[in-house]
Amino acid sequence: MQSTAIAHANIALIKYWGKRDKALNLPATGSLSLTLDGLNTTTSVDFDSALEADRILLNSETPDRQAASRISAFLDLVYRYFHSSGDQRPFASVTSGNNFPTAAGLASSASGFAALAVAAAHALNANANPEQLSMLARRGSGSAARSIYGGIVEMAHGQRADGLDCIASQLHKPDYWNLNVLIAVTDAGSKKVSSTDGMQLTMETSPYYQAWVAGAEADLASARQAIAARDFEALASVTEFSTLKMHASALAAQPGVIYWNAATLAAVHCIRELRSDGLPVCFTMDAGPQVKAICTADVADQVSEKLQQAPGVVRIISCSLGDGARLQPS
Ligand code: PMV
Repeated sequence: MQSTAIAHANIALIKYWGKRDKALNLPATGSLSLTLDGLNTTTSVDFDSALEADRILLNSETPDRQAASRISAFLDLVYRYFHSSGDQRPFASVTSGNNFPTAAGLASSASGFAALAVAAAHALNANANPEQLSMLARRGSGSAARSIYGGIVEMAHGQRADGLDCIASQLHKPDYWNLNVLIAVTDAGSKKVSSTDGMQLTMETSPYYQAWVAGAEADLASARQAIAARDFEALASVTEFSTLKMHASALAAQPGVIYWNAATLAAVHCIRELRSDGLPVCFTMDAGPQVKAICTADVADQVSEKLQQAPGVVRIISCSLGDGARLQPS
């Protein structure tokens, strides 16, 4: 059966950076994110017993071996989860497309694996609930667990060694707070160090890694509290604290992982200036050079205009809060 699903990328305010179990892909910390309506992946999966191998197309191209085997391994996992009998998985045809630059630190793995989990489970006729889908998506990419849900989402660190309690859940629906995220693209090329490699090197070599992990619970609590009170200033403060600590831990790895370029810092300073002028806006950055400005919707045009002028900013992608992953008519 063929199924098509759409999922949105998400941007973490309180970051995930480091794993407590590599094989099960369990994060070392919880995280908290906004699901973004402007960045989508649409994925179709068709299990077909007539195929002799998986046929995968990403953005109309055949992916490299590593990306293709990551997708095939994920399909194996989803199949095994719903078919305990141990029979052979039929090969699949997978077609997936993003409406934004892939692998440039714009969370394409989050929307990608969330859409793939939903489409694959449905194509297998499995009646999966969101918790199961979140748990499965996490195995593809840690941040993908959050893209199963819309609005404001928290990923639990979980206590169990098997990771069954390591799933995301929705804290608030998309209309809870009229926030916008403006993505200042400073380089649309592929990132040099993947998030997987960057966090692994940080875990293995950075003297700041333990301090990063130790602070995560307090940051999550502050963010939850700020969001419950719709206190932008408090949210801005803990959001910037989390991203700068994540990058500080990566910068202190050996060799240091530097995701920023000159335009990244120009955009960061621009956002800081806007906030000191009284605008409710703050920044966050992931495993790439793009800067995401988070602001209330009423100041989004003003922020966008200024950010566009920061030296080296190529373009701005505007998002508001979006829905969770879902099936689409094929
Ligand atoms: O899901 P991954 O393995 O691509 O890791 C995501 C890591 C960050 O984007 C840097 C932070 C996060 O929580 O999304």
